[in-house]
Amino acid sequence: MFLGIYVCMTEYKSSLLEIQIFASLPLHQKTRHQTLHNKPLIKKASNSAKSSLFSFFSVSVSVSASLACSVSFTITITMSMSMATSHHTLFLHNPTNLTNTTNHFPITTTRTTTTFKPISIKCTATTRTQAPPQATAQSQDRVFNFAAGPATLPENVLLKAQSELYNWRGSGMSVMEMSHRGKEFLSIIQKAESDLRTLLNIPSEYSVLFLQGGATTQFAAIPLNLCTPQDNVDYVVTGSWGDKAFKEAQKYCKPKVIWSGKSEKYTKIPSFSDLDQSSNARYLHICANETIHGVEFKDYPTPKNGVLVADMSSNFCSKPVDVSRFGLIYAGAQKNVGPSGVTIVIIRKDLIGNAQGLTPVMLDYKIHDENDSLYNTPPCYGIYMCGLVFEDLVEQGGLKEVEKKNKKKAEILYNAIDESKGFFRCPVEKSVRSLMNVPFTLEKAELEAEFIKEAAKEKMVQLKGHRSVGGMRASIYNAMPLAGVEKLVAFMKDFQARHA
Ligand SMILES: Cc1ncc(COP(=O)(O)O)c(C=O)c1O
Repeated sequence: MFLGIYVCMTEYKSSLLEIQIFASLPLHQKTRHQTLHNKPLIKKASNSAKSSLFSFFSVSVSVSASLACSVSFTITITMSMSMATSHHTLFLHNPTNLTNTTNHFPITTTRTTTTFKPISIKCTATTRTQAPPQATAQSQDRVFNFAAGPATLPENVLLKAQSELYNWRGSGMSVMEMSHRGKEFLSIIQKAESDLRTLLNIPSEYSVLFLQGGATTQFAAIPLNLCTPQDNVDYVVTGSWGDKAFKEAQKYCKPKVIWSGKSEKYTKIPSFSDLDQSSNARYLHICANETIHGVEFKDYPTPKNGVLVADMSSNFCSKPVDVSRFGLIYAGAQKNVGPSGVTIVIIRKDLIGNAQGLTPVMLDYKIHDENDSLYNTPPCYGIYMCGLVFEDLVEQGGLKEVEKKNKKKAEILYNAIDESKGFFRCPVEKSVRSLMNVPFTLEKAELEAEFIKEAAKEKMVQLKGHRSVGGMRASIYNAMPLAGVEKLVAFMKDFQARHA
């Protein structure tokens, strides 16, 4: 009797449990019978065939399983009951590649009427995999990604999405393959909205819309929905994104920049008492966090007459926000809450339904509100990913807890800059420094390229500042682990020691 167990590592395949059984029986041609179920493999075997069954019964079981994206493995159990083991083992290794059986089975050379036909039974079973491992630290093969967006996503969310990619929760489909009107996707979008409402404590008189086109599309949709071409609106411009929003609005209404930080290179937020708001402005627009310049509103101005509208693309869900102070909040998902392709609009319901006549149907909030964001095919997979992120944020204890973590990360990074004796500099006024995007420069500007290159070698990527401002920028969104910021700070100190 021979029993051999071979365990070998195979490369990762998919979340499948695959079982392959090869039964190789030296049977008489006429008596061969096979079945998948526990019925006898031989029904009418001749005596000689029956004895040959016992002479060499060979089973090879190969199990390859991938457990939630970790290591997959193959176990091969080889059993052979025979007098001549070595040749049988050879056969077992390659049962389907047997053309000249007599050469492989010398024991059968005395039975000239018997031919040996391998029977190959392959069973493939798909099973739900275990819950993905919780990510506790950055995996070895991932970088710390400081990109401004699309940006790093929580590792445990990515692993969960991976485990559900092929077969979403037993539905037999990937989320990418689902009808957006089917019960599965409806449950996904409804859960995403419900978790977002929990996170931001969104009052019932607000609608949540999952749209497409990025925040840039909202630069047009907002004036198209909230005012007529003759209406005045106010814009506070604290950076490039506020400026772009203002410029787009010029096509659809009469916007006025009531404050601009351009002359001070967008390093400040105005004092609200300095704002000269128009008495008849339909809305007051701000960019709550300027991604490029790293300036963030810590509080919000109260509009004189109209409503407050905020672009929260780069600090959405990074801290608690009193939604009731706003008429409309909008955000592209790709910084803090998901992949690009999803744009979230939270709008007070009484502001819906007044779109200008020429408003394209896809930009009309009323259409999307009435159809629960399903007027046309929405970005289903992106919404699913946002839903996973929202769920994760709820599990972390909500936005208060998230804000604590974000404050800690930002604090150690800004401290490292401020304590570098001018080697590193952050131009933004301290009281309005962003918790999300930290721009900084080097006193010796000629070293910046080297800094970025060396950091990348240490697996810290995307630290180059926006092309319009240069320098460096570390985006430290919700999903950036504290370990990533600590590593960056350690690297900065080391770099300074070597180059000061
Ligand atoms: C604050 C802010 N607003 C608007 C945008 C434009 O977003 P999108 O590219 O999704 O249109 C960005 C993109 O980075 C941003 O950071």
